[in-house]
Amino acid sequence: MKANQIPFRIKSLEDYQRSFEYSQEDPEGFWSSIAQAYHWKKPWEKTLEWDFQSPSVKWFINGQLNITENCLDRHIPTQGDQIALIWEPNDPQESTKQYTYRQLLSEVNKMANVLKDQGIRKGDRVCIYLPMIPELAFATLACARIGAIHSVVFAGFSSNAVADRINDAQCAYVITSDGLNRGAKQIPVKSVVDEALALCPCVQKVLVVNRLNWPIHMQNDRDYWYHERLNHVNDHCEATTMDSEDDMFILYTSGSTGKPKGVVHTCGGYMVYAGYTFANVFQYNPGDIFWCTADIGWVTGHSYILYGPLLQGATTVMFEGIPTYPDAGRFWQVIDKHNVNIFYTAPTAIRSLMASGVDHVLSYNLHSLKLLGSVGEPINEEAWHWYHTHVGKGKCPIVDTYWQTETGGIMISGMGGIHPQRPSYAGFPIPGIQLMLVDAEGKEIHGNGVEGNLCVKFPWPSILRTTYGDHERCRINYFATYNNLYFTGDGARREEDGMFRLLGRVDDVINVSGHRFGTAEIEDAINHCTKVIESAVVGYPHDIKGQGIYAYVILEHDENANDQTRDEIIESVVDVIGKIAKPDKIQFVRGLPKTRSGKIMRRILRKVAEGETNALGDTTTLLDPTVVDEIIATRL
Ligand code: PRX
Repeated sequence: MKANQIPFRIKSLEDYQRSFEYSQEDPEGFWSSIAQAYHWKKPWEKTLEWDFQSPSVKWFINGQLNITENCLDRHIPTQGDQIALIWEPNDPQESTKQYTYRQLLSEVNKMANVLKDQGIRKGDRVCIYLPMIPELAFATLACARIGAIHSVVFAGFSSNAVADRINDAQCAYVITSDGLNRGAKQIPVKSVVDEALALCPCVQKVLVVNRLNWPIHMQNDRDYWYHERLNHVNDHCEATTMDSEDDMFILYTSGSTGKPKGVVHTCGGYMVYAGYTFANVFQYNPGDIFWCTADIGWVTGHSYILYGPLLQGATTVMFEGIPTYPDAGRFWQVIDKHNVNIFYTAPTAIRSLMASGVDHVLSYNLHSLKLLGSVGEPINEEAWHWYHTHVGKGKCPIVDTYWQTETGGIMISGMGGIHPQRPSYAGFPIPGIQLMLVDAEGKEIHGNGVEGNLCVKFPWPSILRTTYGDHERCRINYFATYNNLYFTGDGARREEDGMFRLLGRVDDVINVSGHRFGTAEIEDAINHCTKVIESAVVGYPHDIKGQGIYAYVILEHDENANDQTRDEIIESVVDVIGKIAKPDKIQFVRGLPKTRSGKIMRRILRKVAEGETNALGDTTTLLDPTVVDEIIATRL
């Protein structure tokens, strides 16, 4: 087969197989064929240079582009009046906002001009700490328009967590809002930023979007209202020419060690992969309304609320609210209201809505739905069936999409409606993805019906390029465990028919409601509480969240082992990270199971947290085996 016979849009199993086979034989030919579908200001000279030892990966070398021209300008002649973005507010009584491609381009250009006016230039880092309001989309795209590197931080992180991320990337600029709506609550976002900025000397200016009309503190010569700055700009802004390998954005994510790291994606490869996976996994057809319920503060929102859909000229829905406000029927009401055709959410949301009873779903007709998606964690069979039966009415295929912040886009999934599906199986590799299962020594596990650690042996266009400011950390985290392989940190099983099932993390990362935390990161936050001497955190199965956070804590004085101390520990975690990382269970212990060399045996702590106290394995090598009996006796 020739490269010019590779379809961009996979429409049948045969298309998938042809694409997949070609991509494995000639990945460079494959991706250069796919990349032709985009607008390049200057074509690339060489498709790929790579080495996983450094690591160094460069795609579409010397090609020039601007992703926003591909997301916006390119669509104006043919679909300028088509709706690009539908924004649904938190409160169903408030009006929806809609932006055509032409209007969205105008808004992005205005925001881009505000940023330029304030001195932001190509390569500058901009921290965006905003709720899910249209200005979040404008701000993110505006950065990409002028070549500023966006670092979107989820607006649920605490001031300390924001400060860490701002300082790590040395952001000179922050975009935020007065406050935010979250269900029945309103949260003071600007004051979180003010607290953070006390720790961030690098920040010079703050742009504030008025969401709630709150009388907030504005610091002279630092803080500016967005609506006031708009009076000084027009809506024309030339898209800055970017090199394929220029940094496009930073997104912080947790690993098994240390503080969260800033995953860096670059312009050309990210664009090619986000658009390709969106079109094919979701089998998007012109006119379809696509809704991804993630927050733009996570990678799912970057790739599948903004960039992927806009690259394909889709209509994308952005939702400010939460699934349970004003009641547990809110998702289904929004689907009917906007005639959503493709709905993409997380298993944790499905499980929490399941728990509220099926009546909420049955009150809506959901006729518009054609395809459902799941992301962020394994979807258990019960949730899969509920989703399929009650939301999809038995007729909508489900794509269970496996990927990571580091991969930029979906890596394993069925192509909606084309591949066979099986509950709790993510499915097949995306064309261009060369997966490998390895054993603990890094030896390849061949054949089917096997399990191992999931690696990728060849680069794909949107693989992370580095971790911001610390390339060695990137190498050690992803490329040093196994020689010449990218290691995901996940275990997986490949079935007889080649289908993949994800088995969860094999490192010290836990996935709580689809959010990633390093156990060390939470322990560090717990240890900030002055009464705590030491702690150890593990994940345990949780009905709604997928995994819950179980903390074993040693206190300075036994008499402090009470609810008040528990509250103080939780406060400490909320303070250092945010509410999303609150421990579900805190067990006070007098010692932790440690090896003679002082290493905590988390395997034992995990088993106790899971309630499998009879399967602890050999404990005789512990420094003090009796601590295990005590831990079992006081288990929560
Ligand atoms: O463990 C895998 C799990 O989420 C991790 C990536 O988390 P994050 O970078 O925050 O990105 C989440 C959204 C893409 C993976 O290492 N994970 C993600 N999707 C799935 C999954 N586990 C099983 N099935 C999935 N579909």
